[in-house]
Amino acid sequence: MTRKLHIRTYGCQMNVYDSERMAEALAGQGYETTEEVAEADLVLLNTCHIREKAAEKVYSELGRLKELKAANPDMRIGVTGCVAQAEGEEILTRSPMVDLVLGPQSYHRLPELTGALQAGARLVETDFPAEDKFDELPARRKARRAPAAFLTVQEGCDKFCAFCVVPYTRGAEVSRPAARILAEARDLVEAGVRELTLLGQNVNAYHGHEGGLAGLIRALAEIDGLARIRYTTSHPNDMDEALIAAHGDVEKLMPYLHLPVQSGSDRVLKAMNRKHTAAEYLALVEKLRAVRPDLLLTSDFITGFPGETEAEFEETLELVRAVGYGTAFSFAYSPRPGTPAAERKDQVPREVSMDRLHRLQALLAGQQKAALEAMVGRETTVLFEKAGRLPGQMAGKSAHLHAVHVPAPAESRGEVRRVRITEAGPNSLAGTLVD
Ligand code: SAH
Ligand code: SF4
Ligand code: F3S
Repeated sequence: MTRKLHIRTYGCQMNVYDSERMAEALAGQGYETTEEVAEADLVLLNTCHIREKAAEKVYSELGRLKELKAANPDMRIGVTGCVAQAEGEEILTRSPMVDLVLGPQSYHRLPELTGALQAGARLVETDFPAEDKFDELPARRKARRAPAAFLTVQEGCDKFCAFCVVPYTRGAEVSRPAARILAEARDLVEAGVRELTLLGQNVNAYHGHEGGLAGLIRALAEIDGLARIRYTTSHPNDMDEALIAAHGDVEKLMPYLHLPVQSGSDRVLKAMNRKHTAAEYLALVEKLRAVRPDLLLTSDFITGFPGETEAEFEETLELVRAVGYGTAFSFAYSPRPGTPAAERKDQVPREVSMDRLHRLQALLAGQQKAALEAMVGRETTVLFEKAGRLPGQMAGKSAHLHAVHVPAPAESRGEVRRVRITEAGPNSLAGTLVD
């Protein structure tokens, strides 16, 4: 019997990858995915706990699902992801319509739980088992795939930044064995994938291959048909010499790097437990740009970390000016239960962190605009992923991960083509085929 599955994904790319793998695992149980939540037999909310706003989304979504479940008593509702891990059993108490709470390290148990769920059991699975959950999940489907795909290579985090829940929700750092990653990559390429983004909470702490992440990237670069490699997210302290060198000589490694710094103040960085200074970060950027001058950098920032003064915030602005980012994600500090920073007495008032956030975002928006405009007149490569907004157009990503619209035939989907950029918009570029 076919059953319908609806998955809603919040948070980071790791969740996007996990949702795909869960859907594939449940396909083996006869579950077909649907966009229509009302017709679903099983609804999974794959959640994020990183900031208060993200975590609240699950409860507002559950509120909306209440009526649907009242109309369809056979509907089963599962909460997966980082809120599931952080709150566990509490979710069942707070939301009587939830049937399943499943932490990110227990997804391989999903297929075997569906029977009990249908029979009416309410289940909580939030252990951190030792095995590689992806190895336990059924192999990926061979269906035709989109040209760009995610591939999780590392999970968990041992860094314990003072503000962050990830080490608690995703557990300790674990690297997947290289042989399995390479096999999965080959399958994906065979299914039409041209660009792989390697994922990990601390992807550059990967140690499942000789030479770490750089070694893995070099091995992946050998795969014929794979045109592009990216990775995210990196911690500055794990950017070793080998990885820096790879940016200089691995042609398939794209000139784009997300390298979160969070703050430009040494005192704040220390209080955040980031374990590097602003000067060390700037020196790292310089080294990277020495081997790859056109490297586009992006970052994450937090404003209003407990104790942050106006002068310290201005040091962040200074660092942003010194680096020049392609784009960046910035957030007002959100105190998270169980993290050391949340216990501090010197919390910054919300209006102050919001005001700093807006000032930082104005600076970053200017840099984004400049980075887009700097591309006009230049040649780049674009991987065509889908039809563009206008007829006869294709849309894809440049080497620097800018969205680009180009007049091109629909058959060019999945091709990497040379493109001359002719125009810059607020968030994307337009160009024409060179050959
Ligand atoms: N592993 C990555 C980040 C994962 S979380 C890294 O080390 O950079 C993504 C981003 O969310 C972080 O970089 C940080 O900027 C932001 N973030 C995490 N916890 C937060 C909190 N409590 N309040 C506000 N922003 C937070
Ligand atoms: Fe969170 Fe820090 Fe780990 Fe990134 S490195 S996931 S910010 S604890
Ligand atoms: Fe959110 Fe968990 Fe990712 S907290 S950012 S979904 S690792």
